[in-house]
Amino acid sequence: MSSAFAIFMLTFLSLSPSSSVALPDNHVAFFIFGDSLYDVGMTLYNNVSGAGADSWPYGETYFKRPAGRYSDGRLIPDFIAEYAQLPFLPPYLQPGLSNYTNGVNFASAGACVLVETRPQTINLKMQVDYFLQMVEKLKKQLGDAEAGSLLSKAVYMFSIGGNDYVSLVEANLNKPALSASYKSRYMGMVLGNLTAHFRTIYGQGGRKFAIQNVGPIGCMPATKALYSGNVGNCVKEPQLLAKMHNAGVQEILKKLQSQLSGFEYSIFDYYASCANRIIYNNRYGFKESKIACCGTGPYDGFFTCGKKGTDFKVCGDPSDYLWFDAGHHSEKANRQLAQLFWEGPSSIVAPLSLKDLYHKHMP
Ligand SMILES: *[C@@H]1O[C@H](CO)[C@@H](O)[C@H](O)[C@H]1NC(C)=O
Ligand SMILES: *[C@@H]1O[C@H](CO)[C@@H](O)[C@H](O)[C@H]1NC(C)=O
Ligand SMILES: *[C@@H]1O[C@H](CO)[C@@H](O)[C@H](O)[C@H]1NC(C)=O
Repeated sequence: MSSAFAIFMLTFLSLSPSSSVALPDNHVAFFIFGDSLYDVGMTLYNNVSGAGADSWPYGETYFKRPAGRYSDGRLIPDFIAEYAQLPFLPPYLQPGLSNYTNGVNFASAGACVLVETRPQTINLKMQVDYFLQMVEKLKKQLGDAEAGSLLSKAVYMFSIGGNDYVSLVEANLNKPALSASYKSRYMGMVLGNLTAHFRTIYGQGGRKFAIQNVGPIGCMPATKALYSGNVGNCVKEPQLLAKMHNAGVQEILKKLQSQLSGFEYSIFDYYASCANRIIYNNRYGFKESKIACCGTGPYDGFFTCGKKGTDFKVCGDPSDYLWFDAGHHSEKANRQLAQLFWEGPSSIVAPLSLKDLYHKHMP
């Protein structure tokens, strides 16, 4: 090797970003957005006192300690990371975190799409802003080309919207029924903002979108506990809102695919999957699907699980329960749901399963 060439190589190496070693062609990162169903610790690090799943019995089954997750164990994104042979994706605000090569999790408990609804939470807009901040850091670390390639191959996962409609219902308890036009305006704002956020991520190179739709929010122990008297298995109004929203999400994704070249997506019908487990609990191995494992009040539907100063009850075996607390699943339920999202039938996850979306080759 001529010395001139050696000097050229040295200069070249020292000018390029530290980790310009190309990632394997099949490397797929996961960027995760959403609410408490996907929160792996963002809320813990958000300095709102008393927020975040930071006390027993959260985490008791798998982590053997509170792990910032609203469950006795792993959440859906944890199982998905396992299927993709990645380590658990850390929360973006975790102190000292600086390597985003495998992806990162921005989801935070209480998050809504509409920014006014729950001021103390990290709403979807703030999560997308954190993502944009991360993209800049990623470009500095990997260089523009490598970062761009990572972003376009990555999967972007969402669980969002449920809190927007639960908040709407809560704010209008014991009031005259909401008019159809009010509901449709509200939904239009939720879907409009959601669309804008998808477009922002697409603008940064994102192509693979995986959306868990809004669940049967009227059947959560927490929602049932808002109403006095017997509401049966589920409260109607929130159920209808969730269904309408989910139909809207399907429409906007179809539309985005027709407008944006290379846009691919997967919708997981969490609504149907969860509702099935509420009705046919025995078929899925749950002894109890209507009452929470941990909490107080009707259906153990008050969010007192883990809260000091409340005499909350905890069940003996969380795997007997679909709901670990008033609004969140047991690890056993999360595992079943994650498996359906990853490789369930097309009646449950479509037009692509998450696994097919993950493997989809991006030019
Ligand atoms: C939370 O507080 C710590 C210590 O005061 C600070 O370093 C951190 O930046 C804060 N995090 C957020 C998200 O505000
Ligand atoms: C970041 O993590 C990836 C995957 O674990 C690893 O290959 C890479 O070397 C890490 N980069 C830095 C700068 O530590
Ligand atoms: C986004 O939500 C806000 C309310 O938070 C609303 O004023 C605005 O019109 C919505 N944007 C779109 C594009 O729907």
